[in-house]
Amino acid sequence: MLDATHPPSAEITSIAHIDEAKYEEMYAASIADPEAFWGEAGKRLDWIKPYTKVKNTSFDHHNVDIKWFEDGTLNVCANCVDRHLETRGTQTAIIWESDDPNIAQHITYNELHDQVSKFANVLHALGVKKGERVVLYLPMIPAAAYAMLACARIGAIHSIVFAGFSADALADRINGSGAKLVVTADEAIRGGRATPLKKNVDEALSKCDADVKCLMVHRTGGDVAMNPERDYIYAEEVERVSSHCAPVEMNAEDPLFILYTSGSTGKPKGVVHTSGGYLTYAAMTHQYVFDYQEGDVYWCTADVGWVTGHSYIVYGPLANGATTVMFEGVPNYPDASRFWQVCEKHKVNQFYTAPTAIRMLMGLGADFVESADLSSLRVLGSVGEPINPEAWNWYNEVVGKGNCPIVDTFWQTETGGILITPLPGATATKPGSATRPFFGVQPVVLDPHSGDEIAQTECEGVLAMGDSWPGQSRTIWGDHARFVDTYFTQYKGYFFTGDGCRRDSDGYYWITGRVDDVINVSGHRMGTAEVESALVAHKAVSEAAVVGFPHDLKGQGIWCYVTLMTGEAPSEELRAALVKWVRHEIGPIAKPDVIQFAPGLPKTRSGKIMRRILRKIAEDDYGALGDTSTLADPSVVDDLIANRGNT
Ligand code: WT7
Repeated sequence: MLDATHPPSAEITSIAHIDEAKYEEMYAASIADPEAFWGEAGKRLDWIKPYTKVKNTSFDHHNVDIKWFEDGTLNVCANCVDRHLETRGTQTAIIWESDDPNIAQHITYNELHDQVSKFANVLHALGVKKGERVVLYLPMIPAAAYAMLACARIGAIHSIVFAGFSADALADRINGSGAKLVVTADEAIRGGRATPLKKNVDEALSKCDADVKCLMVHRTGGDVAMNPERDYIYAEEVERVSSHCAPVEMNAEDPLFILYTSGSTGKPKGVVHTSGGYLTYAAMTHQYVFDYQEGDVYWCTADVGWVTGHSYIVYGPLANGATTVMFEGVPNYPDASRFWQVCEKHKVNQFYTAPTAIRMLMGLGADFVESADLSSLRVLGSVGEPINPEAWNWYNEVVGKGNCPIVDTFWQTETGGILITPLPGATATKPGSATRPFFGVQPVVLDPHSGDEIAQTECEGVLAMGDSWPGQSRTIWGDHARFVDTYFTQYKGYFFTGDGCRRDSDGYYWITGRVDDVINVSGHRMGTAEVESALVAHKAVSEAAVVGFPHDLKGQGIWCYVTLMTGEAPSEELRAALVKWVRHEIGPIAKPDVIQFAPGLPKTRSGKIMRRILRKIAEDDYGALGDTSTLADPSVVDDLIANRGNT
């Protein structure tokens, strides 16, 4: 019974914050009177100057303007650290689990306060001021959390670049955000393998303004080149600063961070999140979605380089005074029992990971799971892509022993926090469905052609949001027009997610995947346009078209159709060279799975590439190619099909 409904057990309902009736009541209240609901919810934070205005938001494409708690002031770092000192100073805030299974560190709220204050003073000493951007390019080490919170403490805006991105991608993000400081480490270490972060920064900075500085923390002690004019070593700088640093008063709508994410066109965009609404939403969702209770140990396996790490490793949990696990390693090192060994070792209560990891571990068998005592687990979360029912059931039965509600959480970089999700104790789950909206969230299903909202419960279309919630992104850094264009223009009056969805007769949402040219590789978002522009930057390539295709482990793989320059011939060497090239241009996550050499691409007479056809060929679904009569040269398609196996 792959699709059975799983009602919450009596046991979980008895301990959870809310049950089904309470969910219905709170949800209805949040929609009927958002001002009252969020006005109350915002009180979970400590405000320096309390807000008097709660919601001031417009999705009108002539004037997209989103403000929450706009006249309130606060400091996000003080909310995540200082305010807990009196009640829980000696409680563990962060459990750091190293890549090396023999090393872990427990950091109390007192220690966190000390470390963050010193880090903030070092940033200050290097000249970082309120409102300035700081790029963080760091491994999953405590210093990553210190640096984020230190920025928040002094009002600087952090922009984290995932340590798996290349020097080029890093340079683009430094330049795009106008940062004057990059914080990095000598090397990152994952699965026993080192990545030369400082070396990548050196390469990136050769493409940036001369006045960009670099602050390096030590991780491995590996050999690095230092430029005395530009580079600073954290261990030396910290010797010169005090451990006292007063948090700066910030407006609720002052930016907290920028996070670059891929879109369907052009370069990645810098999604901007602000302070008061974001933190309210991250904290509230963290508490209810994971049913976080006092004393619980919570673990989200994401990297702080993605939004999941921002909201659900650092900001949400710490605002709630939680104990949050920060994991440097990978699921299969030293072996495939690592996740479960860590759950046992730290007595993890809530575990939050991605379907791609679940599928990979499922393929390796139940023995690895059974080698660990998982009796502490209470809630299991999933995020990043649709979870297939087979993986859902395995997660439920083998990991959760049928006792842990599965929360399949749908959200995006732009949404700041979880939008559609079950709540443990309240929501009956169905494998593969993200189920129901969180408080204040108003999902709508639109007809993709007319843009009209579909009224009947059971339907299929594209997913949009009818009104704002406090965690939503406010703009794209330096390009509000692009923000309006991307999310509010195609379907007027709504925030468009870019996802397709189905709503069943119970009003449950089933996300069916992106409907734009964004693909989802192992839960990581990749713009096909980015991979294409990397490919055409290679001297042998004249044209490229990239599509996603179903991939058993990764969800989607990257399929590249490549037309070569005259005089260049297809070869295995060239294929390998192009794969390496893309990895180098963007990073390992963009590594093509398939390169198909194509003498021509299917284009309309006006020259537009018909990706629909390329997608079908990659999916091995030629029966459904649809109308090809508008192609300038329909024979191109026959060639692509004939050579499909040749990859
Ligand atoms: C895209 C957003 C949100 C943090 C991680 C990804 C897909 C995300 C689910 C889910 C089905 C999901 C969507 C979305 N997605 N969660 N539970 N079920 N699809 O953030 O990189 O901004 O990607 O991930 O397609 O649009 P992101």
